[in-house]
Amino acid sequence: MFPNLKIFPTDQELVQQVTADFLAELHMKSSKKEMMTVALSGGNTPAVWFAELTKYSQLPDWSWIKIFWSDERMVPPDHPQSNYKLAKLLLLDSLAIPASQIFRVATELPPSEAAEHYERLIWQEVPAGTDGYPQFDWILLGLGEDGHTASLFPGAGTLQIKDKLCAAAVHPESGLPRVTFTLPLINRAWKVVFLIMGKSKSRIVADILQGKPKARNYPAAAVHPVKGELVWYLDRAAASNLKPSGSC
Ligand code: 6PG
Repeated sequence: MFPNLKIFPTDQELVQQVTADFLAELHMKSSKKEMMTVALSGGNTPAVWFAELTKYSQLPDWSWIKIFWSDERMVPPDHPQSNYKLAKLLLLDSLAIPASQIFRVATELPPSEAAEHYERLIWQEVPAGTDGYPQFDWILLGLGEDGHTASLFPGAGTLQIKDKLCAAAVHPESGLPRVTFTLPLINRAWKVVFLIMGKSKSRIVADILQGKPKARNYPAAAVHPVKGELVWYLDRAAASNLKPSGSC
């Protein structure tokens, strides 16, 4: 599946469009009195988007959302490296989302238990699709320079998991334990959204989108929603290695 590419001259224009698309979906769900189930991505890129989203903190629709994370570092929730802490500080503390609708990974548990606990939460809180499995409305993802996404790293055994929604993982360089969504869960979402910014991502973006043979080993290249939509929001720097469409 080739993603729906949205390329923007600047990060600001990118996050303005993501925000418009996101809020349109949230409003549609709230008007139907349905919860929008969302998994936020980690890393630094989301911070730019969170700053834009907080401008809309007064919308009444925020009570119609459930927040999860597509991966988490196994550190305390107030640790500087926590994806939950970043989102709480830069976004969630500004929004009127009931605490009962924000589901962080229980990083106080051992990684495997935390993954099992998160999986049970997802079964409990995320409505099933026609195949009976939890189907998120939106799953946000980032792209690592090695082609990882969430905490699915190249060559990791987690890429082969078919029967679980979450798994324990380890960052290959830092050795820091993590919990991650698995590909079966990611690929069941209604919409998977990559937020990709910066020149440092331009090579890996080109490798994946131009179908380079080495891209077959990149976890981000394995994100193909079964029925849902795949959208890559890129700034011009991240897209700078893409050949003009139509060129050989
Ligand atoms: C994490 C992320 C990870 C991230 C990419 C991109 O917890 O680190 O989930 O997959 O999205 O590494 O990170 P940046 O946005 O910081 O480039």
